[in-house]
Amino acid sequence: MTKQDILRVAVIGGDGTGPEVAAEGVKVLKAVAALEGIQYELQDYDLGGDRYLRTGEVLPESVLGELAAFDAILLGAVGHPEVAPGILEKGLLLELRFRFDQYINLRPVKLYPGVETPLAGKGPEDIDFVVVRENTEDLYCGMGGFLKKNTPDEVAMQTAVYTRKGCERCIRWAFEYTRKRNKKKRLTLVAKTNVLTYGHDLWWRTFQDVAKEFPDVAPDYNHVDACCMWMVKNPEYYDVIVTTNMFGDIITDLAGILQGGMGVAAGGNINPEPGGTSMFEPMGGSAPKYTGKGMINPIAMIAAVAMLFEQAGYEKASQRITNAIQTVTGTKMKSQAAGKMGYSTSQVGDLVCEAL
Ligand code: IPM
Ligand code: MN
Repeated sequence: MTKQDILRVAVIGGDGTGPEVAAEGVKVLKAVAALEGIQYELQDYDLGGDRYLRTGEVLPESVLGELAAFDAILLGAVGHPEVAPGILEKGLLLELRFRFDQYINLRPVKLYPGVETPLAGKGPEDIDFVVVRENTEDLYCGMGGFLKKNTPDEVAMQTAVYTRKGCERCIRWAFEYTRKRNKKKRLTLVAKTNVLTYGHDLWWRTFQDVAKEFPDVAPDYNHVDACCMWMVKNPEYYDVIVTTNMFGDIITDLAGILQGGMGVAAGGNINPEPGGTSMFEPMGGSAPKYTGKGMINPIAMIAAVAMLFEQAGYEKASQRITNAIQTVTGTKMKSQAAGKMGYSTSQVGDLVCEAL
């Protein structure tokens, strides 16, 4: 994804509360674009559980072809109570990540003012780090199979795949990001080199090699289990973490709750190459029980829009949204939990627009 004259954004509301939060993301996108004079195009795509139940289609090739022409996709949520688990997650979310080679999953962990964290004695100045999760390899690549399925002798294999190219491009991007972020200038590799002595040895060696290109960034290492402990005990230690796909999935849920939960946590699936299509989403799911009630928190989606602008090269627009979010969480919202915000979903969107 690189800066274009016209920012082209596809919107996939998806399932459950996805369309409600996506609408607030779009509202803020339009408002900030007007203030900053950014040209954009928006197009809605009807994908998700309802379409699947209606037509049997999850992600038709023709739609993939169309989406490739966009700079970014805003994704509301994936997951439908009437669709078996895995069909939409693999067929839509993971398929988009893989097919558009969105090899960076960027998950900022920032405690906004006024937001409650379960960590006693920690505040916004302590919880401000970023996880860079590799997004195309590892246990997610779907390699494996069964032998003697449904017999007492059944064998199941699920293979973690790591390539030099895959970890190197992710690690290099993370070093560049750490340099650009310009805070503690420390990049922590999180892995399990004491047990995964092949796959994570490749990550370790690659990390050491790439670190030589960035003498201004301090290379650092944590085993993943220790990282979970330190993240709770001393979150202020971290600046940027780079990690594998599976570990990144797990530690970013832990990190997400430290920043106030799924109402706030956002993620970017980034293809940094010129012409690449990236995708931005709130980390929370489709929350079926809140669907259509105007109770769900759109802050994570709005933070995802801030990330979209940042990655598209509109840093001022991005900063403007982040500042507005902080005003709204710090001075208006009662809570970040669905139904307890003191405002409806669309009122929170309006408040952010007013604070821009
Ligand atoms: C996430 C989600 C997905 C993942 C699921 C829904 C496939 O948990 O974005 O973290 O495992 O990556
Ligand atoms: Mn996850």
